[in-house]
Amino acid sequence: VSPTIGVFDSGFGGLTVLRELLRIIPGAHYVYLGDTARLPYGSKSRETVVRYALSSARFLEEHGAELLVTACNTATALALEDLQEALPIPVIGVVDPGTRAATRACGDAGNGERPGVLVLATQATVDSHAYARSCEAAGLLATEKACPLLVPLIEEGWGSEGSREEMCEVTSQVLRIYLREALESTSNARAVLLGCTHYPLLRSAIEQTLSELGHPIPVIDSAQATAEAVAEALAARNLVRDDVHDRCEFFATDSVAKFARLGTRFLGSPVENVQLIDLGG
Ligand code: DGL
Repeated sequence: VSPTIGVFDSGFGGLTVLRELLRIIPGAHYVYLGDTARLPYGSKSRETVVRYALSSARFLEEHGAELLVTACNTATALALEDLQEALPIPVIGVVDPGTRAATRACGDAGNGERPGVLVLATQATVDSHAYARSCEAAGLLATEKACPLLVPLIEEGWGSEGSREEMCEVTSQVLRIYLREALESTSNARAVLLGCTHYPLLRSAIEQTLSELGHPIPVIDSAQATAEAVAEALAARNLVRDDVHDRCEFFATDSVAKFARLGTRFLGSPVENVQLIDLGG
């Protein structure tokens, strides 16, 4: 029997992680929960994010998850240790895998200095400094930049997976302002790490804007590295998969129609049969 892998996010963004899980670990049973009723997590306090994350994680564990992926940067940054303590199953977050991917991209600065990495994330993730700590442990110097307007713009459909020209002018300007401000405080960044589940949907626009600002550096996200970490954890626990087809179940705490519509964009394939659940306030 294939392992059941629980994946949870505050909303749709974690589907960018599920997309990579399906690619790297096909043939597993995935149970995805988007806590859309309580999104955004990124502007809330640690206490609230921990409470929300615990109830979401418990739902997935009760639903048979044998391993949990916290596919939300804010929940990972603020609540990973609480989740690991509270749950009897392994819990994998996205921050350390993201840092690992950034390390690969940055290489060695070559002058004895730590390579710089610019981390874009929600306000709560930035305030937690989880990325700064993770990067420091990996020998990188992180500059963290909160981009609080990007999640609502992407949710509104005002982003674009294509080039910046295809994107709404407002989003393009907001992105430019954030990147210009960030680069003013760190001129030696060797990579940009997308520390929020939504930002991979702006990857091309971010790359293009960085080039225009004179910093054509690689843009990294944690989705692939997280899926690799999950594959390692499964192998270490002998949780082998033997199904030919993947199975995905989707749950959301708010409108299932909206989840299916926006989710399809984040997953890159149709999100169907979403079930509504109530986790309280
Ligand atoms: N999933 C969140 C993250 O990756 C972004 C959306 C939110 O603020 O809830 O930080």
